[in-house]
Amino acid sequence: MASMIGVDRLTKTYSGGVMAVNDVSFEVEEGEIFGFLGPNGAGKSTTIMILTTLIAPTSGRASVAGLDVVREPYQARFNFGYVSQELAVDDSLTGWENLYLQAGFYHLPKREVRARSEEILKLVDLFERAGDPVETYSGGMRKRLDIAAGLIHKPKVLFLDEPTLGLDIQTRRHIWSYINYLRNEYNMTIFLTTHYMEEADALCDRIAIMDQGTIKVIDKPCDLKNKLGGDIVNIKFSETAPEKISGVLQAIRSLPVVSSIKPHKDRYTAVVKNGDEDIPEIFRVFQHSGIEISSITLKKPSLDDVYLSYTGKELGNETGSKEDATRFRNVMRRMRS
Ligand SMILES: Nc1ncnc2c1ncn2[C@@H]1O[C@H](COP(=O)(O)OP(=O)(O)O)[C@@H](O)[C@H]1O
Ligand SMILES: [Mg+2]
Repeated sequence: MASMIGVDRLTKTYSGGVMAVNDVSFEVEEGEIFGFLGPNGAGKSTTIMILTTLIAPTSGRASVAGLDVVREPYQARFNFGYVSQELAVDDSLTGWENLYLQAGFYHLPKREVRARSEEILKLVDLFERAGDPVETYSGGMRKRLDIAAGLIHKPKVLFLDEPTLGLDIQTRRHIWSYINYLRNEYNMTIFLTTHYMEEADALCDRIAIMDQGTIKVIDKPCDLKNKLGGDIVNIKFSETAPEKISGVLQAIRSLPVVSSIKPHKDRYTAVVKNGDEDIPEIFRVFQHSGIEISSITLKKPSLDDVYLSYTGKELGNETGSKEDATRFRNVMRRMRS
């Protein structure tokens, strides 16, 4: 399969000295939805701006649809659409006018522009409102028009920088469905950045976790979760002084079913093979230690846990699913009986 985006040892140091992108390499296949996941300042927008020819890299190479973005920027631009983090639509114009303006940049024939605009306005559910000035649109509608503008020239690759930033959950889900549609219907290659865990999880075939200019890991969301190797058990102790709990920690760590236990905020996070069976073993360690467990929770690994394990930081909200809660209650019930 052809690689639609190729990035090879890409580095960007801004004039102020900030190294926003540090020796990054990856490839995206045709028809893939590929996500850059990372916190503010990770270097996501910088990478996208290099790929879309808006800024030049300091070193390394990047290509889109087989075209080198530094040597052939003009040709490359005809092959991709770019929807920036900030809204780019003109408020004083109507939906139609915004698309016609955008089409002008690509010198598309008039007849084609009308049909094409209609098609994408329908795709993003704006056809009915396309005659109204954009200043009457909601935030979600503006974003949808922005995405439509990025699609006017039928690009092979679509770049979306934080496509759902600040939008309500319903609008976000609509945008996810457009993205899926574009891939399924046109085999479009989609490159998006996000700092929403569940967005990356729901939408992307593969994710690169980016932090401080470098890529920590690239894989499919499910494989990233599986790689963690089990369930997540969060434990809070009655005692926090390191010298008092070191013995207990050592004992937990040496249990064959525990693959790791690390401090995190006010608690410890352990990765275990199978929470249902392994929590009782952890309890046994505490039995004669004089230290009590003040709270313990069990959950399936989420992308948050993956993120935490690669960056040591938390990105999204850590909320366990209902399923996890039920499962955990059952473990506790069995232990008491
Ligand atoms: N034009 C610029 N000049 C100098 N530093 C910049 C510029 N744009 C971004 N940076 C810095 O580069 C780093 C990466 O920023 P950015 O690529 O916007 O990250 P992200 O999109 O992941 O939030 C940050 O430290 C940011 O402050
Ligand atoms: Mg950004």
